[in-house]
Amino acid sequence: MFKVGHVYRRFTLASGKKVTLRVLRWEDLDGLLMFINSLVNEKQGDKKSTLYTGFDRKVTREEEVEWLAQTLVAIEGESVINMVADINGKIIANGDVTRGRYKDTHHHGHMGLTMISKYRGQGIGRRMIETLVRESRRAGLRTLDAEFLADNETARRAYERAGFKQAGIIPHKVFRNGRYFDGLIMAREL
Ligand SMILES: CC(C)(COP(=O)(O)OP(=O)(O)OC[C@H]1O[C@@H](n2cnc3c(N)ncnc32)[C@H](O)[C@@H]1OP(=O)(O)O)[C@@H](O)C(=O)NCCC(=O)NCCS
Repeated sequence: MFKVGHVYRRFTLASGKKVTLRVLRWEDLDGLLMFINSLVNEKQGDKKSTLYTGFDRKVTREEEVEWLAQTLVAIEGESVINMVADINGKIIANGDVTRGRYKDTHHHGHMGLTMISKYRGQGIGRRMIETLVRESRRAGLRTLDAEFLADNETARRAYERAGFKQAGIIPHKVFRNGRYFDGLIMAREL
């Protein structure tokens, strides 16, 4: 399987910006720290944020070192398929597929994807999902799922385009800013 730093594909946005989809690497530490904390800022400052769970508080450099070390080990051990989107060396999105850790769920992957808000809606997510689906199949996975806010139309559309179908709703899974939101699970076979 593909290891740290591997480039999956490159493409150009309508704006002319060049996007590289690749596996993360040690040198991404500071870029990842900026990326994760800009999502934390979004969640704290934008009441209409479409982000799902997590992003509750700022991440320290030490915590990010730990996360990156664990993630690189998981990539090398093939329990995670990782993909970041890089524009001019800046990380603007992170996606991964995590394999089930039991013998009887080892063929299943959970997909998660996040992107800095200003880059959403330009086709990057669709390409990342498509590429992660292809890599999951290559890695021998047979099923995938993803979970996000039920009213996140962009995510629903992006996953539908990649062959996912609605598997279920978890009513009131998320409580945020005094309101409940439903979680939506989509899934597909590979
Ligand atoms: C969900 C996410 C990864 C999608 O990536 P993206 O780059 O924004 O999505 P794309 O630009 O590829 O758009 C996907 C589809 O949604 C459509 N779309 C874009 N904005 C939309 C909107 N506001 N309403 C409805 N559909 C929309 C696009 O037209 C496209 O459909 P098409 O291919 O049929 O034209 C990204 O928006 C994101 O990170 N959101 C916040 C985090 C999140 O919700 N993660 C959950 C996923 S596990």
